[in-house]
Amino acid sequence: MTDLDQYLEENRDRFEQELCELLRIPSVSTDGLHLAEIRQAGQWVCDQLQGMGLEAEMLETVGNPVVFAQSPPVPGAPVVLVYGHYDVQPPDPLEEWLSPPFEPTRRNGNLYARGATDDKGQLFTHLKSTEAWMKTYGKLPVQLKFVIEGEEEVGSEGLEDLIAREPERLACDVAVVSDSSQFAPGQPAVTYGLKGIAYFELRLTGPKQDLHSGSFGGAVTNPVNCAARMMASLMDDKGRVQIDGFYDDVQPLHDREREQFAMLPFDETAFMRNIGVNGVTGEDGYTTLERRWARPTFDINGIWGGYQGDGAKTILPAKAGVKFSFRLVPNQDPKKIQQALRAKLEQLCPPGIEMELIDLHSATGVVVPLDSPYMAAAAAAIESGFGRPPVFIREGGSIPVVTVFHEKLGVDTLLLGWGQDDDNTHSPNEKFSLADFHRGIKTSAYLWNTMGKIEVDDS
Ligand code: BES
Ligand code: MN
Ligand code: MN
Repeated sequence: MTDLDQYLEENRDRFEQELCELLRIPSVSTDGLHLAEIRQAGQWVCDQLQGMGLEAEMLETVGNPVVFAQSPPVPGAPVVLVYGHYDVQPPDPLEEWLSPPFEPTRRNGNLYARGATDDKGQLFTHLKSTEAWMKTYGKLPVQLKFVIEGEEEVGSEGLEDLIAREPERLACDVAVVSDSSQFAPGQPAVTYGLKGIAYFELRLTGPKQDLHSGSFGGAVTNPVNCAARMMASLMDDKGRVQIDGFYDDVQPLHDREREQFAMLPFDETAFMRNIGVNGVTGEDGYTTLERRWARPTFDINGIWGGYQGDGAKTILPAKAGVKFSFRLVPNQDPKKIQQALRAKLEQLCPPGIEMELIDLHSATGVVVPLDSPYMAAAAAAIESGFGRPPVFIREGGSIPVVTVFHEKLGVDTLLLGWGQDDDNTHSPNEKFSLADFHRGIKTSAYLWNTMGKIEVDDS
């Protein structure tokens, strides 16, 4: 056992306790109601990085603060940018949590809390691996730059603005992000593709107040009927999105990639059982993994309007609203989709309804190359840390800033997810396996070593 392994072994309990401290801070970014807690969580991360001997600061942005920290340069070795996010999704519906979302609780080897896997628990693995190197050897085999933001769950506007203003501060050779999942328990993975997204809110306003649905129904346009009709017209019964040009730029799935997906031991019955459904549907002609990882999709995220209480109330509602989003694949341009969608909805909007369409946020999809020395370094570290070589997968989630790293910093990102598919991200009873947490720390500690062996010309 190396000194490094020994340090990790001896500090396991403390690492878990510290993670619990971070998880107790309700740093929800979605609703703008937790700005104090957002700042508190950022400061907590900043203090941790400072405490292990890194230069660390809180950078103000147009949005929430970004924690930035760096270790000293290592000539000839790569500069590695480690990205994560300290903001979390809202915990609702609260009544479905078995233990309160911001009181981290251990059950069956898992830690339950909002943010446990997304992303506080995962980002913390890179902090602790760095601490282990600093405390054991006083230095690192690569230069690390930590960029931990507080706005990932709402589109990363502040960080994108920071990168546009100060790209040289973030200059690096490669980025590392742990904010995704393994393929299955016991089967680690490297994620090489993420989807993009285009997110919208539609507000429809009809009469100046709710009306008697007998006296007025059928003669006055009903905003909720209208919302339902508009949304239904966005997808046909073969699961194809009905917006002009939507598929024009879609990067098609190649046969080779489809074969690779098909070779993964994906158990569709177990998948259905885990999420509690008795069947699955989606775009015709594609498998479940293809639909989840590599085909664009449309989902209503929330829809409201009219009477929601007990019993029946016969009204024609005055208003309706919908939040909905498209998950995009590489090459699809969210701006083009925004325009085509707006044109389509305007054309569908009937007399008697005022329509407002709000673009909430968007990001493009990414695929990262599999044949880089960094990918090899990551695969080797994972094999040592998890005891098994990774499989290569794509994901349906989005991490908007990954595209920005590519476009503005010119680097690829290693997406090294330590989570599991059933971690309940964004939903009640979010968890992170403590075994995966410690394996993640170990893998990260090895990764700084395997990456340190890559020679870069930094003259
Ligand atoms: N960690 C997720 C992204 C993710 C989810 C990657 C599942 C791989 C698998 C991230 O925190 C997230 O939720 N992103 C948002 C981005 C959006 C708000 C722009 C998402 O995908 O909904
Ligand atoms: Mn995340
Ligand atoms: Mn998330």
